[in-house]
Amino acid sequence: MKKYKNRPRDVKFPQPLRLPALSSYNLTDYPEHYPEGERSIMEAVRWGVLGVANIFMKKVLPPLLGSDLVRLEAVASRSGEKARSAAQRFGIPRSYGSYEDLLEDADIEAVYIPLPNHLHGEWIRKAADAGKHILCEKPLALNAEEAKASVEYAAAAGVRLMEAFMYRFHPQWRRVAELASRGEIGEILAVQTYYAYDLKDPENIRNKADMGGGGLMDIGCYAVSVPRLLFGAEPRRAIGLFTRDANLKTDILSSAILDFGRGRSVFTVATQGFRAQQVDIYGSSGSMHVGIPFNMYPDVPPSLTVSTPIGERRPQLPAADQYGLEFEAFSEALRRDLPVPTPPQDAVANQKVLDALFRSETSGRWEPIAKGD
Ligand SMILES: NC(=O)c1ccc[n+]([C@@H]2O[C@H](COP(=O)([O-])OP(=O)(O)OC[C@H]3O[C@@H](n4cnc5c(N)ncnc54)[C@H](OP(=O)(O)O)[C@@H]3O)[C@@H](O)[C@H]2O)c1
Repeated sequence: MKKYKNRPRDVKFPQPLRLPALSSYNLTDYPEHYPEGERSIMEAVRWGVLGVANIFMKKVLPPLLGSDLVRLEAVASRSGEKARSAAQRFGIPRSYGSYEDLLEDADIEAVYIPLPNHLHGEWIRKAADAGKHILCEKPLALNAEEAKASVEYAAAAGVRLMEAFMYRFHPQWRRVAELASRGEIGEILAVQTYYAYDLKDPENIRNKADMGGGGLMDIGCYAVSVPRLLFGAEPRRAIGLFTRDANLKTDILSSAILDFGRGRSVFTVATQGFRAQQVDIYGSSGSMHVGIPFNMYPDVPPSLTVSTPIGERRPQLPAADQYGLEFEAFSEALRRDLPVPTPPQDAVANQKVLDALFRSETSGRWEPIAKGD
């Protein structure tokens, strides 16, 4: 483990985390169990960002600029000029021309990693060595083995690690999870997801097979995450059908069935298809339709439809910025010395399903989901 000379001194390093078992993780617990008033007296967490990524500039940064709990302290890029320009434009105090230099900054407590997927493991390890807590973009790793190694590495270094599934922080999903868990639509039988965009640029990281690109990794990870959340369980087995681009070699049209026992999940994701996204959840006595499940606009109330024997309704839910909520939830967990809201083991479990689907592509058969840690 590399020793950074400027490992921050004022960050409290917890013992290796004792996290709740996945089955006891309840999305609806968060964040209502924290009294609102106490938030205002918390010191903002000082964040650094590794890479001037699109997702950071376009979606993550705007809500953070107005947050009392999150302070963007520094941004790093492989290009000093790119980092400087981003920092100047948004009033971020410091910029660095290398990710290593940012990790040397003793004032930074937590880092956000929005790098291409094949670099997540490397920079999780380096950030952990530097004593920084880590919010890493999805998917956390290229496979379950790497995800597990990253989770163990972060725990051994005494830093928190979370995979950035921002959708879980949106009020629409908190509501869906709450309704599902209290049996509003009966027993959940089927979760159906369609998620697609049309992107043929060979330079985009999503179209680079050696960077962990492709539809299943980029957006299929959401379609796996959602039913695992709603069933509160791991699928027993999975089968997939993939079409790959002849030149790019990435999967461009990927469908799967996940077997959760009595219930099941079916999904299709596409990187060269009509841009659309929706999740439908069918239970024994009702259904829920989530109109924009993943890229919900921050200034538009969600379009959730719930059907039960009483009738069809559209719950009145607030517009919310899921990225801001995610960063604030992570920051609050740090300040309260609590586990991060999405346990890092969730990333390993999600990746196990993705791994099984890739195995199924080769075998043409159902593949079991690997058990255990
Ligand atoms: N949660 C979400 O809503 C969401 C949405 C989109 C993407 N993501 C995830 O966020 C990550 C980044 O996605 P993105 O669309 O923002 O990608 P992007 O715009 O291509 O940004 C990736 C950044 O990584 C840095 N980088 C370092 N080595 C690189 C290399 N060899 N090739 C390319 N870039 C390199 C670059 O920053 P510098 O040049 O500044 O060093 C680049 O700007 C991915 O893991 C993706 O799955 C999440």
